[in-house]
Amino acid sequence: MLKVKNINQYYGGGSHILRDVSLEAHLGKVTVLLGRNGVGKTTLLKSLMGLVPIKTGSIEFNGKAIHKDTPYERARAGIGFVPQGREIFARLTVEENLRMGLAYKSASTPIPAELFGLFPVLKQMLHRRGGDLSGGQQQQLAIARALAAKPRLLILDEPTEGIQPSIIKDIGRVIRMLADRGDMAILLVEQYYDFAEELADDYMVMERGEFIARGLGKNMPADGVRQLVAI
Ligand SMILES: Nc1ncnc2c1ncn2[C@@H]1O[C@H](COP(=O)(O)OP(=O)(O)OP(=O)(O)O)[C@@H](O)[C@H]1O
Ligand SMILES: [Mg+2]
Repeated sequence: MLKVKNINQYYGGGSHILRDVSLEAHLGKVTVLLGRNGVGKTTLLKSLMGLVPIKTGSIEFNGKAIHKDTPYERARAGIGFVPQGREIFARLTVEENLRMGLAYKSASTPIPAELFGLFPVLKQMLHRRGGDLSGGQQQQLAIARALAAKPRLLILDEPTEGIQPSIIKDIGRVIRMLADRGDMAILLVEQYYDFAEELADDYMVMERGEFIARGLGKNMPADGVRQLVAI
């Protein structure tokens, strides 16, 4: 589904942020990327989305090279992105935020009703402004906005950051359920180890822009991943 080969990425000043990063994400699976602060996780996701250009390497999605496509084209090809810090539109209503997730569809495309089954709170809050929601509700809104266009690949950047435990549980359940339906690949960046271990079918650990460990999610305890990402 997603095949990333040997990506290298530099920021201005020449610092080497991603070093020969390769990964795959598959339908029906949750692929988790762990790593401490500042190691390059978000930079990798932005590269996949086309928000920062890659210097070398390739990104293949559904058998097609997409690394020269714009973010808009990648979204249209079926990649949904939930950015770190949520980035919902604070002054737009919940409904308007969800419509923004359909921005590249025709104007008559309805908001899929199933989103309200996944996140019932969004139905209750449909006409409230995004900025009036709690952090956890905003995260649910950001995920629902990404799901509105029915992506085949859902990319999430630290969805548990600053969120209360009960909503973290809800979000974990939704991610598992989406993967188990078998028609979506999920790439999850996460620093909350227990959440990552619970969801991971496959895992990678990044340090200073490269992967230092990877394997099956069920082997995370035996592989000592908790220690690798402990602060
Ligand atoms: N736009 C930018 N220009 C220059 N350097 C940047 C830019 N964005 C990030 N960096 C640097 O690149 C490195 C990787 O940052 P990145 O945000 O990808 O890390 P991260 O693993 O997502 O961290 P966190 O866990 O804190 O979200 C850091 O050293 C950061 O300071
Ligand atoms: Mg980050």
